[in-house]
Amino acid sequence: MRRHDVLVVGAGLAGQRAALAAAQAGRDVALLTKLHPLRSHSGAAQGGINAAVGAEDSVDTHIYDTVKGSDYLGDQDAIEFFCSEAGKTVVEMEHFGTIFSRAPDGSLARRPFGGAGFPRTIYAADRTGLALLQAIYEHLGTEKITTYEEWDLVDLVLVDGRVQGIVAHDRRTGEFEGIAAKSVVLATGPAGRVYSRTTNSHSSTGDGLAIAYRAGAWLKDMEFVQFHPTALLETGILITEGARGEGGILKNGTGERFMSRYAPHVQDLASRDVVSRAIVTEILEGRGFPGGFVHLELMHLGKEKIESRLQEICDFSRNFAGIDPVTEPIPVSPAQHYMMGGIGTSIHGETNLAGLFAAGEAACVSIHGANRLGGNSLLETLVFGKEAGIAAAQFAADSPSTRVSDIEVQRTLGTVRTMMARTDGVEPLAFRAEIQAVMERRAGIYRNDADLRAGCEEISTLRERAATMRITDSSRVFNLNLTDALETLHILDLAEVILVGALARTESRGAHSRTDFPKRDDANWMRHTIASYRPEGPQLSYAPVAYTRWEPKERVY
Ligand code: FUM
Repeated sequence: MRRHDVLVVGAGLAGQRAALAAAQAGRDVALLTKLHPLRSHSGAAQGGINAAVGAEDSVDTHIYDTVKGSDYLGDQDAIEFFCSEAGKTVVEMEHFGTIFSRAPDGSLARRPFGGAGFPRTIYAADRTGLALLQAIYEHLGTEKITTYEEWDLVDLVLVDGRVQGIVAHDRRTGEFEGIAAKSVVLATGPAGRVYSRTTNSHSSTGDGLAIAYRAGAWLKDMEFVQFHPTALLETGILITEGARGEGGILKNGTGERFMSRYAPHVQDLASRDVVSRAIVTEILEGRGFPGGFVHLELMHLGKEKIESRLQEICDFSRNFAGIDPVTEPIPVSPAQHYMMGGIGTSIHGETNLAGLFAAGEAACVSIHGANRLGGNSLLETLVFGKEAGIAAAQFAADSPSTRVSDIEVQRTLGTVRTMMARTDGVEPLAFRAEIQAVMERRAGIYRNDADLRAGCEEISTLRERAATMRITDSSRVFNLNLTDALETLHILDLAEVILVGALARTESRGAHSRTDFPKRDDANWMRHTIASYRPEGPQLSYAPVAYTRWEPKERVY
């Protein structure tokens, strides 16, 4: 059996940063990923990474903006730690070789982002995630780390109440194997594919969240789903908030700059939940363009600025929408972008399961509370990836050797063989589309009791049908139909957790907007939702929010 001290699952920024930290602590580290590391979803992040490095800015202002952006659901102790680490994290990534864009004086260029008091978002044109990913990948080569590429995480192995390894599927051979590890870090990234219209890559299927949940880890605040205001019409490809940071403006079908009615002070640079709701309201009230979208105008910025600072969105608009942003407005509407919720962790990535750690979008520390600010996600991957790697390395150093048997592998194989043996039943991607349709219809930007209740019932019906899911491809090598089936089961579980949590939360806060409960209700709902797996459906409990210095008040932009 393969054995390691620390096994990191997921090789985006959080996973690679965790692996680096664990290796630097002297442990035998492995990195397992279902993609090539440079294809990880971190590479899709465009607009930038936040750090209060400007002379006029301060760590305290970054903390305050993040607390306010979270609609006071973020844990303030975690946010204080997070923002205090920002400056050194960015400098470290620069030393690793990230080519950030520069201001005329040679300092790190910064652009304004939504909900931020100062221009705080450091960037590499609009390919910041990719620039960071390439730099950390190169740096990872300085350590001895075993990499398992094109392997699916299939299950966690718990022995004696401690996570002691995983079951994984090697796509190249078709084998299912146990991999023993004294500690496991889940950095499996987003779960955006719970929805059909999302800025997330097709690989963003929440594997780590669902697998940890079924193994007994707590999922926290999953009802808070971020919709990015500006996704390219039809494809849902991200059009970075950096476009508005550079001066882009939103206009409705009557040519009005409608954001002045929703956020009189900062208009297009209000926080994402506010801008997304404004766009949907314009469309619902008949002021959108036919087909349901608004315009993002950049033309007034000029060709040079658009093509130098917003290269990628130029390419996307030209290639996927036939629109040239230099001369035409970009048609946009909101799409799922980020899950504020995730596997509940401490600042050091510890979960409620001994030996299991999580970081990045798969985790919920919680610093984003009910709404994340743009630019805080890339920072989160690096700050908490490193913390999780250090803690997992220490845990491994203190732990006795692992005991993983073949029983877990055989159990997993049983489920797969059943799906392969079926001669009729539902095909995984068709079934996934049905789950996604429920989520789009029932748990979007605006929610209400009737829709959420109907969504829960529809997901229960789909759960019964999940037992008929069938893998039609019988090949062993690169059987992506098998991967599709496993991912679809993850999506099903996560959809249910989101719906159940959203139905229970009878208030509006951040990205969770209930038309039947339009006000924030601090007296009853200033608390985190915790979902625990039960075969009959998620069991909810609640946990307090950590406060330090900031009293909740009304959030106005
Ligand atoms: O709009 C963007 O560039 C996205 C950034 C983020 O989600 O942090």
